[in-house]
Amino acid sequence: MAGYPERVYLNGVVMPAGEARVSAFDRGFLFADGVYEVIPVYGGRPLRLAQHLRRLDASLGAIRLANPHGDAEWQAIVTRLIATAGGGDVYIYIQITRGPAPRDHVFPPQPTPTVFAYAQPIVPAPERVRDGIAALFVADIRWHRCDIKSIALLANVLARDAATRADCAEALFVRDGFVTEGASSNLFIVRDGELRTPPNGPTLLPGVTRDLVLELARAAGVSTHQVPLPVADVSGADEVWITSSVREIVAVTTLDGTPVGNGRPGPLYARLAAAFQDYKRRFAAGSAT
Ligand code: PDD
Repeated sequence: MAGYPERVYLNGVVMPAGEARVSAFDRGFLFADGVYEVIPVYGGRPLRLAQHLRRLDASLGAIRLANPHGDAEWQAIVTRLIATAGGGDVYIYIQITRGPAPRDHVFPPQPTPTVFAYAQPIVPAPERVRDGIAALFVADIRWHRCDIKSIALLANVLARDAATRADCAEALFVRDGFVTEGASSNLFIVRDGELRTPPNGPTLLPGVTRDLVLELARAAGVSTHQVPLPVADVSGADEVWITSSVREIVAVTTLDGTPVGNGRPGPLYARLAAAFQDYKRRFAAGSAT
């Protein structure tokens, strides 16, 4: 079926996607009671796997669900899924829910978590790298634990729909006058020659790509600041970027219908996007961690 992976992992078994069955009483389905991860894979190697597994463990801890696997087991699952993908750049999606139980807000005493995972190709978007994307501001109606990678993504989905209807590829959340992150990405701006991104905390997901971009920027001698970003600083920025495991770094060139800078991806974007591609090449070849 178009758009679906051919094979998926469900509770220890790799099977055709069409054969994967989960109970209608799964708490993921009834309560969105679960968490997830998305891990990019380049040259058959999962990028920053330890960081993704650490964040997964933190998300599970935050929802008081025991991690069903140790790191070595997760690594083995990821390796099995990479083999199902047949090469190329892919991402691994992993979701863990509190599993099936009679519907009750109270946790089941002995949950049987549902572990679902698959690999899908990362589709390159050269026109986005070349031209950037349009984005718009939306009110952040999410809860106060956006640092948990929760599968409860309704507010993110609604934000993305508002973006799509406005011909935009991302929505940027505004909370209390500050822009925190995108519907499925982190946010960077360039002002006065320095790179700024909001500090980690409960209003945003601690992005693995965000950390990597900060690392690459510092290595390139760019001054970086983790500071809250008022709306005016973002709308008046010289450059605006978003980052994520599937979109890497993308420049926002139109914001709320107005060009960012001169409306083209800026010079610092060009430098960091090149550094990112160079890092990826070295990583895929086994010469970077
Ligand atoms: N989303 N913020 C939000 C709300 C996100 O959903 C994501 C990623 C990020 C970026 O995190 P990372 O760099 O670790 O991918 C930030 C994934 C890709 C998704 O939901 O599909």
